[in-house]
Amino acid sequence: MRIGIFDSGVGGLTVLNEAMMALPGADFIFYADLDHVPYGIKTKSEVNQLTYDAVDFLVNIGADAVVLACNTATSASVSYLRQSFKVPVIGMEPALKPAVERFSGKKILVMATELTLKEKKFNDLVQRLDATDIIYPVPMPELVLMAEDFNFDQKNLNAVLDRKFNSIDLAQFETLVLGCTHFIYYKEMMRQYFPHSIEIIDGNKGTVRNLTKILEADQPFSKSRQCIEYYVSGIKENNGRFEKYLDFLNKDE
Ligand code: DGL
Repeated sequence: MRIGIFDSGVGGLTVLNEAMMALPGADFIFYADLDHVPYGIKTKSEVNQLTYDAVDFLVNIGADAVVLACNTATSASVSYLRQSFKVPVIGMEPALKPAVERFSGKKILVMATELTLKEKKFNDLVQRLDATDIIYPVPMPELVLMAEDFNFDQKNLNAVLDRKFNSIDLAQFETLVLGCTHFIYYKEMMRQYFPHSIEIIDGNKGTVRNLTKILEADQPFSKSRQCIEYYVSGIKENNGRFEKYLDFLNKDE
């Protein structure tokens, strides 16, 4: 079983990391479209085309399933991709549902890319959950670029957040939804910035659970080594530039 994991960039590694642990018997093909990152400030049709090309590539080199480890690509393209390819295509969307389920009267802060927040998929989800009045959506394109630069400095993050939240009362929020895989790197640092009462939720675990269910592959350790291939915009690479990200994600393990 070879699972393709696709993102515009390094955000997808946060899903790869989770999936590698959940599915030790599977092999992975990781694809980051670094030539075109960021997607979040592009048009829907641009993202559609780029995502289609990447998924087509993954299917052609033998992916048995593809995870869109990217909320932005999912919102622009998941329905079309499911019609176009025979392999399962697993998407991601901001984890609004668990946030609404634990709602106790304060607002839900949703950070995602501009495109995710303005796309129909997210707005339909908000309607379905009847959450229009309780969400506070904030596009954070700066964090995508910072993650691409391996800039995980608390001071720099605080400066970016200050610019957005300076004049906003943070006590009005009860939950923060990280609706972009690039933002997962900042989860612990966000905890330092926001009041401790704010719960931080993301969709990574849910996505991998979904993948496992779809593959019915909750298999025990069937191999001593997983094989992971890395591609950057269609060109095979070694894990060189990605290793430090995986180390960063696993530093507290
Ligand atoms: N990592 C992507 C997401 O989950 C998007 C980042 C970007 O390319 O703007 O939305």
